[in-house]
Amino acid sequence: MEDLIRFIAKDVLTKKELRNLDEEFVIERIKIFLKKHKRIKEKLEQRKQFNLKRAKEYKEIIKAVRAELREVYGVFILKEHFKLGELLDKLRKNPCLENHNKILESHKSSKERLPYYALVYKRIFEIIGVPKRIVDLGCGLNPFSYPYIKFKPEYVACDLAKKDLEFIKEYFKIMRIKGVIKRVDLAKDCQDKLKEIIKKEDVVFLLKTVDSLEAIKKNISKDLLRSIPARFIVVSFSTKSLGGKKRIRRERRTWFERFVKKLGYKITIFEIPGEIFYVLTKQA
Ligand SMILES: C[S@@+](CC[C@H](N)C(=O)[O-])C[C@H]1O[C@@H](n2cnc3c(N)ncnc32)[C@H](O)[C@@H]1O
Repeated sequence: MEDLIRFIAKDVLTKKELRNLDEEFVIERIKIFLKKHKRIKEKLEQRKQFNLKRAKEYKEIIKAVRAELREVYGVFILKEHFKLGELLDKLRKNPCLENHNKILESHKSSKERLPYYALVYKRIFEIIGVPKRIVDLGCGLNPFSYPYIKFKPEYVACDLAKKDLEFIKEYFKIMRIKGVIKRVDLAKDCQDKLKEIIKKEDVVFLLKTVDSLEAIKKNISKDLLRSIPARFIVVSFSTKSLGGKKRIRRERRTWFERFVKKLGYKITIFEIPGEIFYVLTKQA
């Protein structure tokens, strides 16, 4: 079965928008799918020697796993993302703000935030002060917004997309930023890993990532928030639906507000068009 699962994972990853994800994460999702769909698992085992790709069940699993990965990753990838290598080369030759912006524009979340980055960081650091280290969970391409921060914190970039993280590593090198990358699957049991990575005085970013995690497993972000030992956490949510037409009302986040208060955090809220920020602070 292991070989078969690997074969399916490789096929799932041939979709262009998913190719920066790593195989192990896809294998994990396939295993979870097969656990829930025993009939498909049996059929695939029977068919594994011949005509596998033509089996109805094969098409079904490919479609379902791709749909899930699209929701947590692919949907944020814009056309320019496929040129990330080229964009990084340009930045290497000329590390001006414009070349940073071009990279930020290749990911939906940072593109939407782009006109407001300076303002967002100003607000955040007015509230929490100047931290030594930022740990960015589900970072996407947000580390490329480093020039907007205006001081020089250490930066820990965590995501599940290994190849994106490699670009970020290269970026840290080019800009001589004291930064590291960590491949972390936040939907998996990663509490020990987070306790190892995050220190009490760090500021943790969880920008537009909670909804992606909840799409995989309901309430998973509660476990995640519980396992973050930091005094400062910045969580943001999109206030627009993915299609951009509907506004997501703040009432939908009352579960979140109630939960973090229970954890002992004080909440400060601010908004920019399309995004709401919760700056969470705990007494020392
Ligand atoms: C909507 S994007 C936000 C990116 C970035 N935080 C920003 O706001 O610019 C969600 C990010 O979460 C990451 N992600 C989704 N599920 C994850 C998981 N289980 N573990 C780690 N990262 C995950 C995706 O790869 C993607 O980069």
